[in-house]
Amino acid sequence: MPKEFFITTAIDYTNSPPHIGHAYEKVLADVIARYHRLKRGKVFFLTGVDQHGQKVQQSAAKAGVPPAQFVKGITQQFRDLWKALDVKYNAWAATIDPLHKKCVRGILQRLFDEGQIYKDKQAGYYSIRQEQFLTDKERGADGQFGPEWGEVEFREEENYYFKLSQHKDWLLSYIDNRKDAVIPDFRQTELRNAVEKLSGDLCISRPKSRLDWGIELPFDKDFVTYVWFDALTNYISFAGYDPRQSTLNSQPSTFRDKWPALQIIGKDILIPAHGIYWLIMLHALGFSDEAMPQLLVHGWWNLAGAKMSKSAGNVIDPFVLADKYGSGALRYYLMRDIARGTDADFDEKLLLERYHNELGNKIGNLVNRSLSMATNYSGIVLKKPTEAKLSQFSDYFGQVYKACMNEAEIGGAQIFEKDEEGRPVGALGAVLRLAEEANAFVEAEKPWRLRKDRKTDRLGAVLYQLAEVVRIIAILISPVVPKAAHGVFDQLNWKMELSGKEERFSLKDAEWGGLPDGHVVGKPIPLFPRIEINEGV
Ligand code: MSP
Repeated sequence: MPKEFFITTAIDYTNSPPHIGHAYEKVLADVIARYHRLKRGKVFFLTGVDQHGQKVQQSAAKAGVPPAQFVKGITQQFRDLWKALDVKYNAWAATIDPLHKKCVRGILQRLFDEGQIYKDKQAGYYSIRQEQFLTDKERGADGQFGPEWGEVEFREEENYYFKLSQHKDWLLSYIDNRKDAVIPDFRQTELRNAVEKLSGDLCISRPKSRLDWGIELPFDKDFVTYVWFDALTNYISFAGYDPRQSTLNSQPSTFRDKWPALQIIGKDILIPAHGIYWLIMLHALGFSDEAMPQLLVHGWWNLAGAKMSKSAGNVIDPFVLADKYGSGALRYYLMRDIARGTDADFDEKLLLERYHNELGNKIGNLVNRSLSMATNYSGIVLKKPTEAKLSQFSDYFGQVYKACMNEAEIGGAQIFEKDEEGRPVGALGAVLRLAEEANAFVEAEKPWRLRKDRKTDRLGAVLYQLAEVVRIIAILISPVVPKAAHGVFDQLNWKMELSGKEERFSLKDAEWGGLPDGHVVGKPIPLFPRIEINEGV
């Protein structure tokens, strides 16, 4: 078993600025990473940018700047976004990094030396606009190539090929033997069906005459590496993989300690990129079946049922949303409203509604009223009930609380590790219920009446229990809304020496009774203030 929990995301193309789809994937990975840190696991979270290839070269040309300069600007936008959204990664994969290039070249050389890569001539119809060879699949009903391909000419070109089809039987048996190679299940089935149809090898080079923004092949200076071969390698190159070593055991311990990774990708890049090319690349490099990464495939965010695209002009800018609502509200909505395996519609109204109704009215309100009473009722101290008294006070509440805790724990595992149904609401749902029950507890106990009736002991115990629920809720929501969780702890006057640090939260601490008897809480400040939006939301 690896010692570190290794999690990756797709690396984003640097041909255009980030949109909400990119943001969702990184926030999802960040939440999973934070959840593992909450469990006190060592985590290595790798994300980054895909900087080479035709798309990037074309966008740079359009902008009239050299690709290196173009890529620098877009890369900075991604980094700024992760900062704005509290996405905390451990390593940054940028494919123009010399360390990465060296690794890609090392891998290519080894596969070439081992006879996995060969040179061949391809002749066929080539679309100049799309810069790719066309096959009969691309022909329309009339047998012609449609206008989307622009000018099409017959071409002959030499290139290098990776022996993909040689590994088809292995891939089928790997998928058949490992039930959770791909999550969720239906994506694994889709992959299997695609592998059945696999034929032909993978062209892994591009002649420099038509693309020079890439990694030069180590064995032929007239070619650069196909961008997917380059990009996929990031998952190991930035984790310390040494291409000269052909077994996992001979890899440096930095790599061995973390590999294999849990890899989060969107549904569009499972087939063929990750499910076929990547798994076969690893197999060809000598990775055993046990050392294959697990692929967690998420759906897409759409807008009013339509795919978001720059050309359609319907992309959602995450910077604007983070600015308007704060990173917490956006992170919460992204985690709350998408079923992981399927698509969802992005709805700004719902984002605001969830922010007000769930974060504000349930959690924020509970924190605020609990701490207001604890600080305003002079002469009242939080009183930790003894076991017997605890059950006396929490007859109805304690039971529900326990159930919620169990649900949150199981839900947590389901959401953050694997969730067959893919709906990441289990743990969040349990936390919300916990807040609802605690709010109902306030109504039932009526602390203001206890105060009037001078039932000081009972009042102290009620306020203690509320502070405890608030403390535990903060721990449970910390992976999703880390800033707000710090806000709760600050107001609780709890673990102040770790203020702002992620180590402040630990799942082990989410157990009843952590606050000492007589604990003095801090001043309450509204956590999720109402946001008034006037223009057209
Ligand atoms: N550069 C490749 C990935 C290489 S990984 C070795 C790429 N880049 S991308 O920028 O187009 O997409 C990056 C990730 O964002 C992919 O996982 C993709 O599925 C995801 N998303 C892009 N648009 C999305 C939505 N509208 N919704 C959710 N995720 C989306 O592919």
